Amino acid sequence: MDAQEMREKYVDYFKARGHSYISSASLIPENDPTVLFTTAGMHPLVPYLLGERHPAGTRLVDFQKCVRTGDIDEVGDASHLTFFEMLGNWSLGDYFKKESIGYSYVFLTEVLGMDPNSLAVTAFEGEGDIPRDDETASIWKSHGLRDDQIFFYGKEDNWWGPAGQTGPCGPDTEIFYDDGRPKCGPKCGPSCHCGKYTEIWNNVFMQYFKDAEGKFTPLKQKNVDTGMGLERILRILNGKETVYDTPLFAGIIGQIESLSGKKYGEDPEVTRAFRIVADHLRAATFILGDGVVPAKVGQGYILRRLIRRASRYMSKLGIEDVCMKSVAEIVVKEYSKAYPELKANENFIYENITAEEEKFRKTLTKGLRRFNEMLAENAGKEVLNGEAVFRLYDTFGFPVELTQELAAEQGMKVDLEDFENRFKTHQEASRGDGGTFKGGLADHSEETTKLHTATHLLNAALRKFVSPDIQQKGSNITAERLRFDFNLDRKCTPEELAAVEKYVNDAIKAGIDVVCEEMPYEEAKARGAIGVFTNKYGEMVKVYTIGDVSCEICGGPHVKNTAELQGFKIKKEESSAAGIRRIKAVVGKFD
Ligand code: SER
Repeated sequence: MDAQEMREKYVDYFKARGHSYISSASLIPENDPTVLFTTAGMHPLVPYLLGERHPAGTRLVDFQKCVRTGDIDEVGDASHLTFFEMLGNWSLGDYFKKESIGYSYVFLTEVLGMDPNSLAVTAFEGEGDIPRDDETASIWKSHGLRDDQIFFYGKEDNWWGPAGQTGPCGPDTEIFYDDGRPKCGPKCGPSCHCGKYTEIWNNVFMQYFKDAEGKFTPLKQKNVDTGMGLERILRILNGKETVYDTPLFAGIIGQIESLSGKKYGEDPEVTRAFRIVADHLRAATFILGDGVVPAKVGQGYILRRLIRRASRYMSKLGIEDVCMKSVAEIVVKEYSKAYPELKANENFIYENITAEEEKFRKTLTKGLRRFNEMLAENAGKEVLNGEAVFRLYDTFGFPVELTQELAAEQGMKVDLEDFENRFKTHQEASRGDGGTFKGGLADHSEETTKLHTATHLLNAALRKFVSPDIQQKGSNITAERLRFDFNLDRKCTPEELAAVEKYVNDAIKAGIDVVCEEMPYEEAKARGAIGVFTNKYGEMVKVYTIGDVSCEICGGPHVKNTAELQGFKIKKEESSAAGIRRIKAVVGKFD
């Protein structure tokens, strides 16, 4: 089965059961400054899991692009991926365990034709105040699963979420494919890593909210959040050994073969390099497709790491030309039906991937030479000093993780603390990777709600006074400030900034009502609503209108009246990346 067929089968099945299809949200979380990327299908749905009304109803289905950055350095083995797709269906206070399990069982056994004997499932065994989930086990039994196919585990294995420190979460039932091999030992079961069991689907019964103190309170509504890894299910359905052997990678790997003249699988080193290049360039293409450019911090830094690590492995495969674009072209071609934003942004993707590749190519060889000299200088030592690591970073553009990997290949560590100290003195901002999960999912506090509305006013003002072509290229809101990135290839003038600030303040003083309406995407577009969505035909969206100042497609939340913002001040206007400017601003009472 190929990927598009699988996506369609899944969506059609749930549509026939009353679910509305929603298109994949951006990889860049819109309402969540605490994570760099969308990491699961439920991520963009957090406000609705917490009780906000979703315009498409209480039953949703989608396939969501996701990026997880925790394991970048593990990529190269048979299973790790940075980019993956998650098929998901949701009940927002609608159906619960019985229907959810029934839908999954029928889909797997009847639509996909899997043998019920090849399934193994898990249930929550109970911990603390939260009881054992016998209900889930008995529902599975009602579908004919035997006791020996049902396994109970604790919080470690059978609890999902929250995605950050706080948020919706709950016990889950995970569905595994059992490849039929004998158990590796008496304790062998779905939580064993011997390879007999592969998790394919996770049905989370989200009925708790975990707060910052770690307390669990029941949610207003009982939800179901399910996620099935597209790569894994395709691997199993196609009887393949690894996710890289599925149709999702065939074209990409074929292109790397023709660039390198080597064969995927010809030896373990080559295989590993192929996988790294394939995964990283697929991920990079998708991240670029959502408007991120390589940078020193945040998402842009992850993108840079992916491209540069891929570049090094391409070089190991003997590819010396600048040619990543040709791999990105395959990704755009093969994935655009499911993710039209790739096609819409293809030139941006190709320009930026090539620019980054060229930049790094220029220094890669010299940097590697310098690295080898450093090794000689540090011969006999276990740790590479921070100064050397910083030089590789600063002069040759080696992300520190790349140097760590190079050093590890020689059995050495790097003095990360020393590096970080040197780095900090050069850079006020951090690398952006570590620590971003702190603080939990976005809070929808009063402050952030005000800043959301201020962002709409700012966007409108920039289009009016700076350039009508301005579009949002990124937004990040904390309780203290908003940060808005937009396309402009020059600095804003002080006069422009003054006009923008005044316009926003006038809109605040005018006390304009913020009106939210739900309508099909096409209607919103026809009204002139702006928004960075790539929605499909017929999809319902929320449109926030602020008098004749602003009309934007947005998930919310927003204040009821602009007067609540009290005042608006631009704190900074700076460059964020090539062709992208960044404004930081605050709201409140200013005299
Ligand atoms: N949120 C759950 C997961 O990521 C199910 O979708 O596994």
